[in-house]
Amino acid sequence: MSETTPLQLAGKHVLLGLSGGIACYKSAELIRLLTKAGATVQVVMTAAAEQFITAVTLQALSGRAVVTSQWDAREPNNMAHINLGREADVMLIAPASADFIAKLAQGRADELLSLTALARPLDRCPLLVAPAMNREMWAHPATQRNVATLRADGALILGPDAGDQACGEVGDGRMLEAADLLEEVIAFFQPKLLAGRKLLITAGPTFEPIDPVRGITNLSSGKMGFAIARAAREAGAEVTLVAGPVHLPTPRGVRRIDVRTALQMHEAVLPLATQHEIFVATAAVADWRPATLNEHKIKKDGKKTSPTFELTENPDILAAVAALPDKPFCVGFAAESQDLLKHAREKLLRKKVPLIVGNLGPATFGRDDNALLLVDEQGQRELPHSDKLSLARELVQEIARRLAKP
Ligand code: CTP
Repeated sequence: MSETTPLQLAGKHVLLGLSGGIACYKSAELIRLLTKAGATVQVVMTAAAEQFITAVTLQALSGRAVVTSQWDAREPNNMAHINLGREADVMLIAPASADFIAKLAQGRADELLSLTALARPLDRCPLLVAPAMNREMWAHPATQRNVATLRADGALILGPDAGDQACGEVGDGRMLEAADLLEEVIAFFQPKLLAGRKLLITAGPTFEPIDPVRGITNLSSGKMGFAIARAAREAGAEVTLVAGPVHLPTPRGVRRIDVRTALQMHEAVLPLATQHEIFVATAAVADWRPATLNEHKIKKDGKKTSPTFELTENPDILAAVAALPDKPFCVGFAAESQDLLKHAREKLLRKKVPLIVGNLGPATFGRDDNALLLVDEQGQRELPHSDKLSLARELVQEIARRLAKP
């Protein structure tokens, strides 16, 4: 997240529970990230967790005394298990060991952390669980049964990840990285306006090769499109992102298809379009490509004249999707350098889409902030200058509102 993005967890109180596992070291970083994002964090540890990391470290990072026992006499009413769950906006167990998941599934309450999980008000303090264990333990039918029980009881299971494990084996069971858990906690707090919807989005520039080492491209960074992909996923949508050549990390939970040229983007999007209910075209697709591709690098070779290229027009991906008989709800972007409203309105008509989002290309390309002008048949609405993630969330709200209309 950029410096211009507001604190994503301001005002949120996270009850972070650690059970025993080597992944406890990641929880130290997680506390740092949660607090940097504006949250307050109260740590509760099991005795097994204390074998892996000390309460001193976690107290220093969270700025609060860590609680480890239900007999902790510091609580005036001696009911830590009740108080902790009443203060929190969410309870996150990270790491959640196989044994601790089994305890949660059974509703056991023989130490403070499981006792607190059982005593928390279900409607006000939801449970997030980040499993961490050896791959055989994760794959075991008993663990899978317990995880299914937790899901049925309303818990959200975050991960686990696949990859190298502390035991030297490779497979499913690693705890998500701290940054991924942070993104999941932030997403958890967003309203689920697009729950169950499928959204397809293009982002970034395209690159049209002239020869093996050169090409035509543009200054689009892909940041706005990636922010919309993230915001849509946070809102509960299943998101497919078709990205031109950019070096941005894929938002969590988003399926990404990388392409280079406009033709590849067209080829990737068209078959997917009708499988989605929403299509958002943020990509700055190159309008033209060299008519022929030189197999080898064009050399100067002492020639006095510069090479000339014939260009041919690329297909208009947005217009092609909007012309499909069972088309999704289409949102186009207009990146202009002047007369934003006029050009946006022209594009609305020319591309036959219900919504065009105008922005000033030179003022926003590569930056973390933007301002948007939403233009539809009824009129226009400005989304004033803000960071791209906040704007993306507002746009998602607008799309959800339009889809909800009968
Ligand atoms: N678009 C597209 N395929 C293209 C060109 C544009 O899907 N070959 C989409 C963009 O993703 C954007 C919208 O169409 O959502 C408008 O793109 P823009 O480049 O601003 O408009 P153009 O149609 O290229 O018009 P012009 O270059 O004349 O402004």
